[in-house]
Amino acid sequence: MILKTIPQVHIETFGCQMNESDSELVRSMLKREGFVFTEDRERADVVLVNTCAIRENAHNKIYAHLSELRTLKKQRPLVVCVLGCMAQNLKSAMTEKEPLIDVLAGPDAYRQLPSLLTTALEAQEQGLFQKGFALDLSEYETYEGIMPDRDSGVNAWITVMRGCDNFCSFCVVPYTRGRERSRDPRSILHEARDASARGFRQITLLGQNVNSYRHEDWDFARLITAVADTAGIDRVRFTSPHPKDFPVALIKAIATHPKVCKHIHLPLQAGSDRILELMGRTYAGAEYLALVDRIRSTVPDVVLTTDIICGFCSESDEDFQSTSRMVEQAQFDSAYIFKYSERKHTIAARKYTDDVPDQVKGMRVARLVETQRRITLERNRRYIGKDVEILVERDATRSSTQAMGKTDGNITVVWDKSTGDFKPGTLTMKHIFDASAATLYGECP
Ligand code: SAH
Ligand code: SF4
Ligand code: F3S
Repeated sequence: MILKTIPQVHIETFGCQMNESDSELVRSMLKREGFVFTEDRERADVVLVNTCAIRENAHNKIYAHLSELRTLKKQRPLVVCVLGCMAQNLKSAMTEKEPLIDVLAGPDAYRQLPSLLTTALEAQEQGLFQKGFALDLSEYETYEGIMPDRDSGVNAWITVMRGCDNFCSFCVVPYTRGRERSRDPRSILHEARDASARGFRQITLLGQNVNSYRHEDWDFARLITAVADTAGIDRVRFTSPHPKDFPVALIKAIATHPKVCKHIHLPLQAGSDRILELMGRTYAGAEYLALVDRIRSTVPDVVLTTDIICGFCSESDEDFQSTSRMVEQAQFDSAYIFKYSERKHTIAARKYTDDVPDQVKGMRVARLVETQRRITLERNRRYIGKDVEILVERDATRSSTQAMGKTDGNITVVWDKSTGDFKPGTLTMKHIFDASAATLYGECP
């Protein structure tokens, strides 16, 4: 770098855990090239915004955020760089709409960031204004050889595969993150050992389709078992799997390995077979429920969570009723429920009409949220009177006199620090005496 001062970089991350994990890779690559990171946006020479494109409100949130940066950029020199799925999705339409952006880089192009940012900073020093773009998707990029600069805490993300080949008709991810590719298990295990040595107690394996992981003769069941064998690691989680890749060996691995958490996030998306077909999900409702039964009978007390979309193209009241029925039958521990949001490029945008009125989508979401809230509360109340093991994470959000942590099934537990056991990264037993739809309340057993 031949810049006058060492540039200070501030990074902000939106979207899913893959973006959290990518931001850690970006930080590592930039630090290696001499950039310094700051938590303080007001002092930054470069602001990186890692973005999401999954629904229109994700786009809106980012535009609102960028307009905050406009004030900052009027006051002093600032390079604004947009990373992630929205950059990849909108490309130059994004810089046209928001001219304050200097650099756009998509999820497979982060190795180019040090040079793109250096060029942008040099140009700015000379009073020149030029835009930088790095938006190539790759079939091979897995950021091999780059050890993420991890956020502190108890959990370490490890991205084990990138991209997605499923092309669910509603989803933009295959267009923003490109083709599916899995990492070499040796480097994943090396990362797991490194995370353990640095004091992380939990590992979450990440991929858009994490259970279709495959590298030579390694499948996901073998991978998760090997990661869970890492000395010093207490818990291993994974997200998100697709129901199509759930062989018995994987369910057994989850059931039998003491370090693999008994929590499965199993996106359902819809309960009507006609809608599932239009979505391209490759399973019917009955197959999904059969999988749920298989999982529940092999992994007793498993915590099951899901994602559901309301108001997909042509969804009738009857289709929606099927989804409600499935939610009652599957008895999820919790669910993320979304209004369908048409995404550019997707199969649904090209082939189907987004014809469910926004108000109807909203009503369906509200009804399903209510149904699920009741089920979640009932399921959470089953823990009352039981002793559960918790991995301590941090102070509770509401009060610093309370600590919070997660059960093996990823349910939040809160307890008074006066009862002891609030050191992050430790395992503790708590007796559950009350429960809401969001939280279990614990005390000394
Ligand atoms: N790869 C993950 C999902 C990633 S997106 C998986 O397959 O499970 C997370 C969730 O966002 C999806 O499960 C889906 O429920 C929701 N989603 C994706 N595209 C959407 C869209 N166009 N409108 C509304 N919700 C969407
Ligand atoms: Fe999107 Fe489907 Fe791939 Fe998940 S599996 S990322 S919903 S295309
Ligand atoms: Fe969003 Fe991209 Fe993740 S679209 S949900 S940040 S993969």
